[in-house]
Amino acid sequence: MEKKTKYAVEIKKLNKTFFNKKNGKDIPALINVDLKIPSGSLFGLLGLNGAGKSTIINVLAGLCLKNSGSVKINNYDIDQSRKQSSCQIGIVPQELNFDPFFTPKEILEIQAGLYGIKKEHRKTKQILEDMDLYDKSNSYTRSLSGGMKRRLMIAKALVHDPPILVLDEPTAGVDVTLRRQLWKYIENLRSNGKTVLLTTHYIEEAENLCDRICIISNGKIVLSKTKKSIMREFKKKKLEDIFLKVTKSQ
Ligand SMILES: Nc1ncnc2c1ncn2[C@@H]1O[C@H](COP(=O)(O)OP(=O)(O)O)[C@@H](O)[C@H]1O
Ligand SMILES: [Mg+2]
Repeated sequence: MEKKTKYAVEIKKLNKTFFNKKNGKDIPALINVDLKIPSGSLFGLLGLNGAGKSTIINVLAGLCLKNSGSVKINNYDIDQSRKQSSCQIGIVPQELNFDPFFTPKEILEIQAGLYGIKKEHRKTKQILEDMDLYDKSNSYTRSLSGGMKRRLMIAKALVHDPPILVLDEPTAGVDVTLRRQLWKYIENLRSNGKTVLLTTHYIEEAENLCDRICIISNGKIVLSKTKKSIMREFKKKKLEDIFLKVTKSQ
């Protein structure tokens, strides 16, 4: 379901406030967030824990209701065209989201069923092959290694062949080898024409992988530029120094 628009994701003046029942206070998680993700980019949303990254992802996924603002996914407004907009996007959440007693093949088949994809149009075998999981097609997922489980999460998000893939902290808490392996898969997805939005709190990940970087701090976007222009503008400064500077100034 390929659809080319200038921006894969266009967020305008997005606000989200949570309510803390314990102390009766509001938690402003997103404040007037503007974000434009060009089609075909590998976009890094960088921020410390609690900055608001997952809240943005959850709004995109339809798991979290916004207070105000507009969100378009490949030009489909999430309020006006919920079904079309969700077909455009695949979400890989941070936590494992499948039953350990199912096999990878079953998980992908169930997911395809949820999206109403007819048996003859399903690409279960192809996706398992692409994610190097084909020889584990019929194993219990609980027997898969950490890397295989992460790849299965990506496979699951690809079932409906969305042009946009969102990965929420795909490498948080994973070892160096697995991190590099996941980077390779993410780069491949982009080379195959997907737009990729990735959240991370690892500066080196955004620096190595992404061509556009956006920094969020306390619910506000504090910087959004191409990596090249950040590097040019701040000359020899390391991204880490820029990150510390813009997140501290809040
Ligand atoms: N369901 C929720 N209820 C209350 N507060 C929440 C909820 N989800 C997130 N928050 C708060 O919103 C802020 C942003 O959180 P989050 O988007 O998860 O940050 P990140 O993903 O960047 O670590 C934090 O202050 C967090 O505590
Ligand atoms: Mg998060």
